[in-house]
Amino acid sequence: MNYPSRVHITEVGPRDGLQNEKTHVGVADKLGLIERLLQAGVRHFEATSFVSPKWVPQMADAAEVMAGLGGPNFAPLLDGATVSVLTPNMRGLEAALAAGAQEVVVFGAASEAFSQKNINCSIAESMAMFAPVVAAAHAAGVATRGAISCSVGCPYEGDVAPQKVGEVARMMQAMGVQRIAVADTIGVGTPRKVQAAMAAALAHYDVAHVAGHFHDTYGQALANTLAALQMGVSHFESSIAGLGGCPYAKGATGNVATEDVVYLLHGMGIDTGLALDGLVDAAAFIGKVLGRPPNSRVTVAMLNQRDKP
Ligand code: HMG
Ligand code: MG
Repeated sequence: MNYPSRVHITEVGPRDGLQNEKTHVGVADKLGLIERLLQAGVRHFEATSFVSPKWVPQMADAAEVMAGLGGPNFAPLLDGATVSVLTPNMRGLEAALAAGAQEVVVFGAASEAFSQKNINCSIAESMAMFAPVVAAAHAAGVATRGAISCSVGCPYEGDVAPQKVGEVARMMQAMGVQRIAVADTIGVGTPRKVQAAMAAALAHYDVAHVAGHFHDTYGQALANTLAALQMGVSHFESSIAGLGGCPYAKGATGNVATEDVVYLLHGMGIDTGLALDGLVDAAAFIGKVLGRPPNSRVTVAMLNQRDKP
């Protein structure tokens, strides 16, 4: 197999990971998590979302989180890092630009029903909403990414055809979105289905610009990561401590844990630039904040090792 020698990880824990938490996580704890992630070598992460606070209350403090990241103690840690945020519309983009975001993410879906539930509009309407966001971001010198949710399956529509993924990828490519993620939002995918969804996206984007974003609801995310690696995909989005879920994808559990992906990759001799021990520290930190153990086999194993006399 022709695996990449280096993989780029986008940490989505502070955003995808926390957005579904019912109890509000304070700004200081969000910043504490980001600080530890940066100390572990994270150089690309989703800090927050500039979305309607009525839709996702946990992200209502987006501007405060960004202000914290602009503070002097974060400057050395953020050197060489890209701070990414979600922006569904122009209102979100304007707030993101004012807050100093370096990259913005528009998030569409390959399923009509999910698009309606998540952003209250059809796929076509979402593309019309995103196009000016992408253009204005580029005009401001800010990078763009696009997420294609429900690329394999949808909580409302069931199986999603790869052709649907291809259509959204084509529209995102046409509006100038620089990178995309093929997302298995509800973690139902298995390797061949994920490879078919990836292939549909790769018809419109170079492999260097496509990421895998796998939730682990059915325990398939590492297998799907390997399947994508085998296609030459070298960008993955993952969440510290396996946090996460989407408020509009009932029952979907967390993203694949960053620690588990990194253990897999390092074990295969693939470089990530991340320090596993530091990731475990970050996972343990957020586990304490949330009052539950990290949802990562690697973190649990490594914490058990640390506890040994
Ligand atoms: P809407 O209700 O159709 O839009 O929501 P609206 O324009 O009528 O706005 C409703 C209210 O929100 C108004 O306030 C707006 O001002 C306000 P009111 O007048 O009622 O007081 N509003 C905003 N406030 C702050 N920032 C904004 C903003 N926009 C409007 N940007 C909308 C449409 C898109 C805004 C809404 O549906 C929304 O915010 N959805 C976000 C849902 C979300 O964040 N989902 C999770 C992220 S996606 C995900 O997790 C998947 C991913 O991980 C990949 C994967 O796994 O699949 C990326
Ligand atoms: Mg997600």
